[in-house]
Amino acid sequence: MAAEQDLAEQLAQLRVSQAEIPACYPQSNPVDIFRVHIANTLADHGDLLLPVPALKAKGEKPDELATRWAEEFPDSPLVNKPIVDASFLRFFFKLAPTKSKNTGYQSTLVYKLPGDSQSGRKRILIEFSSPNIAKPFHEGHLRSTIIGGFLGNLYEGAGYDVVRLNYLGDSGKQYGLLALRFKKFGDEEALQADPIQHLYQIYVKINQLVSEERKEIQALEIAGEEAAMIKDNGLDEQARQYFKAMCNNDREAIELWRRFRELGIERYKKSYARLNIHFDTYAGESLVKEESMKIAETKMADARITEISQGATIVDFSKHVPGKVGKALGKGLVRKKDGTSLYLARDIGAMFERDEHYKFDQMMYVVATDQDLHLKQLFKIVELIGHDDLRSRVTHVNFGLVLGMSTRRGTAVFLDDVLRDKNEAKYAQVVDPEKIADILGISSVMVQDMSGKRFNNYHFNMETMTSFEGDTGPYLQYSHARLCSMFSKAGVPASDFESADLSLMIGPHAINLVRLLARFPDTIQNNLKTHEPTTVLTYLFRLTHALNSS
Ligand code: ARG
Repeated sequence: MAAEQDLAEQLAQLRVSQAEIPACYPQSNPVDIFRVHIANTLADHGDLLLPVPALKAKGEKPDELATRWAEEFPDSPLVNKPIVDASFLRFFFKLAPTKSKNTGYQSTLVYKLPGDSQSGRKRILIEFSSPNIAKPFHEGHLRSTIIGGFLGNLYEGAGYDVVRLNYLGDSGKQYGLLALRFKKFGDEEALQADPIQHLYQIYVKINQLVSEERKEIQALEIAGEEAAMIKDNGLDEQARQYFKAMCNNDREAIELWRRFRELGIERYKKSYARLNIHFDTYAGESLVKEESMKIAETKMADARITEISQGATIVDFSKHVPGKVGKALGKGLVRKKDGTSLYLARDIGAMFERDEHYKFDQMMYVVATDQDLHLKQLFKIVELIGHDDLRSRVTHVNFGLVLGMSTRRGTAVFLDDVLRDKNEAKYAQVVDPEKIADILGISSVMVQDMSGKRFNNYHFNMETMTSFEGDTGPYLQYSHARLCSMFSKAGVPASDFESADLSLMIGPHAINLVRLLARFPDTIQNNLKTHEPTTVLTYLFRLTHALNSS
């Protein structure tokens, strides 16, 4: 262990930190030491970069211009002479220690985000998590929760007015099935004790029965026999009827729906609280007003984009959007033959309702890539019916899959699994071990999720993510805890920071730290564009490495 740490320290001094290089093991592969060193050195491109071609200056060629400007660049108190790199100019800040407060380093220590004092704050609506009441909370919902929670904090921290909205899946035939089964076999006591668990049991049972029913129909049809009896009276049909009754304001159906919803929300809230996430509002598919959907449908009819196909109302995008794009969008189902409206219709209605109610400047849908088509159809419809302005204010923040993780029993249980491995010896050393273990487990999951680009799928790996080595949640927490302990041991009140004499910070490590700290506002501004949690996480790891090697 000590030898390992030694090696890690030596490597850090040699500018070998493998932060962003996958499948690279300088600790065990000597060639990787050189590989990483070269990569790290090349990566040090300077603090700011001027790509001269982007200026589109007439006359001189960009590389000649770059060379001339570098030669003519005067002595500056702030930056070194730029380095010419083909047609690019690379600038390195002069981080000479100074007592002057004008250089801005001081302010990085007491940094406030620009939005803090901004008047006329912009409102950002973030729709995320959005699990389905009648189905288990799966890893896609967990990812949406993590990314949406992150975006909420990011925008709030940058001074925006953030509305966090959870759009529960609480409608449709699947919901009808659940309600039906509960009416027959549900257990009131079990429901009160653990609603998610009980509804999950019902979910498993009813889906098993539905699949048996399907097999039966198939077998009959293969044998050339009439399956109409089952089709007309089976579970599938009953669920459809139930949902229809609910849409038609059937008192009993609505009452049950309200209870499921409330119990579900209560339970979700507990899991969200553990992740330090809250919602300003719990919306839901069922709460979209029939009237809003009707208005949207009228607009669609006026724009002549809907048609009736086998009794259902659909949009055939290939007829309204030219070329490949239209073909790829395919057909969107708006209303079923039986008059119940579908997922897409509810989303259109919901978008107009939210716009009117929240008057948002921007709205984000944090939903997995497997719904890319759905959201493209949704956005295209809004555009086709002439709401270009609304269209320009909505974005889909999508993300890939988590592979190799089974959350069949829901996230709450899943988090318990992560936290189950307890190290008794370490447990004895901390004040509130349960709480610390919880925080570490959650940081592990979150950091692993935020490490790559959202779009990429990633493999869930319990071992790597809970390790204290490498760029993990526990490593970040450990570094933070270490700083806190130094801070409390030093006993310097935060109010003394503003008058700190930074001219005493002369070592290269300290200067490097200041250089990184100064990048924080820039990192946040950049993050507001990328919407990638990894933007700020990569920054944090760079900072942590610099800190731990100083
Ligand atoms: N409840 C949906 C699901 O789990 C996700 C909702 C996404 N948001 C939306 N506005 N369609 O698949």
